[in-house]
Amino acid sequence: MDLSPREREICREILSGALALLSQAEQFKNREKWEALPELLSGEERLELDSEQLKLLLSAFNMYYLLSQKETDKLSRYLKSNLHQPEDMAAYFERARAALGENPLEPEACQLLRRRLSAALKDFSSARRFLPRKLYISDLHFYHGNLNFQMDQRGFGDEAQMNARMIRQWQEHVHEKDEVYVLGDFCMGTGEMANIILRQLPGKKYLIIGNHDRYLEDRAFDASLFQWAKPYAEIQDRHRRVILSHYPVFCYNGQYKVDGAGNPKAYMLYGHVHNTLDEALVNAFIRQTRAAKRPSRYEAEPRPIPCNMINCFCMFSDYIPLTLEEWILTDERRRKEMEDVPDSII
Ligand SMILES: [Fe+2]
Repeated sequence: MDLSPREREICREILSGALALLSQAEQFKNREKWEALPELLSGEERLELDSEQLKLLLSAFNMYYLLSQKETDKLSRYLKSNLHQPEDMAAYFERARAALGENPLEPEACQLLRRRLSAALKDFSSARRFLPRKLYISDLHFYHGNLNFQMDQRGFGDEAQMNARMIRQWQEHVHEKDEVYVLGDFCMGTGEMANIILRQLPGKKYLIIGNHDRYLEDRAFDASLFQWAKPYAEIQDRHRRVILSHYPVFCYNGQYKVDGAGNPKAYMLYGHVHNTLDEALVNAFIRQTRAAKRPSRYEAEPRPIPCNMINCFCMFSDYIPLTLEEWILTDERRRKEMEDVPDSII
């Protein structure tokens, strides 16, 4: 398998996690107690496994315990509804491993299990299948050659060079199983021109319609190249709500929601303003909002107002579709460097 270091790390976590879970389940070999497994698995942290990770864990359980289909289905349902947050998987498995310190597997059983799990892992043709991601990008403006000399000043010699670079960046960073949400202004060409570009871009593509996506009305455009195209959407990305709109939404659904640790549960991703004065004005609004506090009848102290608006303009990511986590970091870095809007304008 051709694996990146990150994918190797994920595979290692899956394998060691599966081992820990199986070791923990060793005490249920008599089957009478196996139904107590959900209780053991449940913890304060909720984890998320994607379907391929689930499949591996379930196949491991199947192989080792020869569970019936009914039992496997039950475990699958439990795992799907109770485990979220894949980034915490390693910590969770570490806890599971510590919990079974008093009752370790026999060395031979451990070896057998390792062999079987390794074989299960090899069954997957590519570890990329474990890692479908949600990616976001905005305002690519394919074929819009003027952007090299006006507004964005992209710096390519012509639109062909610009298109080629954007296609290459996409192809090098997006896997076929990824979902890519384009936040509008994808292409300035005709329907057929948009078809030519979209057919070269891997991944499942979703379009939030922008003011320049006129190729959508061209009968030559192949609408099946996008999974859907709509002006606004709200999706889930690892237990967070993501508001998707071409235009900035200043008061968005779920804005005040945070989890128990105070982390935001909603983000608003937008495009349209590129890196213009309009974006500087949006940034001024974001800073003012974050500095404001809102009184609450339930709390003694007023609380800061969350404002998690992120401009996913393609030039901010060197034309690479990024995950939400990557956009959060990119946005934080960029906003620190942004110049203040002159007082004369606001
Ligand atoms: Fe645009």
